[in-house]
Amino acid sequence: MGTSSPGPAGPADYFTPSPLNGLLYGHIHSAALRAVAVHGIADLLADGPRTAEDLAASAGLHAVSLRRVLRLLAGHGLFTEDARGAFELTENGLPLRTDVPGSRHATILLVSGEMFGRAADGIVDTVRTGTPSFETAYGVPFFEHLAASPAERQLFDAGMAAVSGPIDDRVAQSYAFPGSGTVVDVGGGRGGLLRAVLTREPALTGVLFDRPGTVADHLLDIKEVRGRWSVEGGDFFSAVPSGGDIYLLKHVLHDWDDDDCARILDAIRRAADPGKRLLVIDAVLPEGSAPHPAVALDIAVMLLMRGRERTAKEFERLLSRTGFRLNRILPTPSLPSIIEAEAV
Ligand SMILES: C[S@@+](CC[C@H](N)C(=O)[O-])C[C@H]1O[C@@H](n2cnc3c(N)ncnc32)[C@H](O)[C@@H]1O
Repeated sequence: MGTSSPGPAGPADYFTPSPLNGLLYGHIHSAALRAVAVHGIADLLADGPRTAEDLAASAGLHAVSLRRVLRLLAGHGLFTEDARGAFELTENGLPLRTDVPGSRHATILLVSGEMFGRAADGIVDTVRTGTPSFETAYGVPFFEHLAASPAERQLFDAGMAAVSGPIDDRVAQSYAFPGSGTVVDVGGGRGGLLRAVLTREPALTGVLFDRPGTVADHLLDIKEVRGRWSVEGGDFFSAVPSGGDIYLLKHVLHDWDDDDCARILDAIRRAADPGKRLLVIDAVLPEGSAPHPAVALDIAVMLLMRGRERTAKEFERLLSRTGFRLNRILPTPSLPSIIEAEAV
């Protein structure tokens, strides 16, 4: 392999920075991130800078290899290295720690892990067949696999909770929730959003509804919301808790194709009286091919599940098909918007 660098006007080649190379070698950078997360290096730096040799001795690692990986990530601004070879976390690297607010550690383990990796490997076939590569690789749909594999379910639920942690407060503050009544979070994961909503509105009560294993690991045990919540395990294709004043569906519809979304929405419509509100919280894609951060998420849900990100028109069609009227779409300071609908 050659090592020549490009001339000023020549095309970028072989690992030199370029849009194409950023994409082509992205998995190497992601793998380096994974190594650091799996070996808990960031937590070992909580008390200050340490050399690769010192870190390797603590974590039982190969010092020279670790230093090379840290050097790559230092180039991305996650660490700095001082003159004596000691590495320190930068502000951008801080979310690698497990014990900080906004930690991304569980998300890194999920996204760089085997399930996402095998799904990504199968993209060639998904583009040929339309079948999610996860299903081809594992022989069952994503959530069925999780139901049979508690360790991977926990990996997913923790990764989702870490993805949602910073989003939940921003969503909760972007909507004028009523001062009283009951909020039902359908497919609410470990309950981060419900917790954020109930914390802001001290007279609201809430129900967290998700698969039984997931709600068992809920995050609702905090004093700010004490006595105002319950959890229920079940299957949102069959039935969801009735009697809610507001139903939430955050990052749920994007996991499913239109027919499955209609089954979930039907179940909510059966549980919700006319006039009750549904808030779908998902990214809203622009029409056309304008660059948008949710376009990459669209590929992830295409490979893992039978999901897709949707435009405003697509949400409107889906909602009206199942007895909801789309009222308005509210932006949040985060990627997802709040699509407010009403049971008719
Ligand atoms: C992408 S996660 C979103 C979780 C949460 N709403 C959030 O934003 O962090 C999708 C959720 O749907 C739940 N789910 C999947 N299939 C389900 C089913 N049949 N019944 C109930 N919940 C289900 C999963 O357990 C998971 O928590």
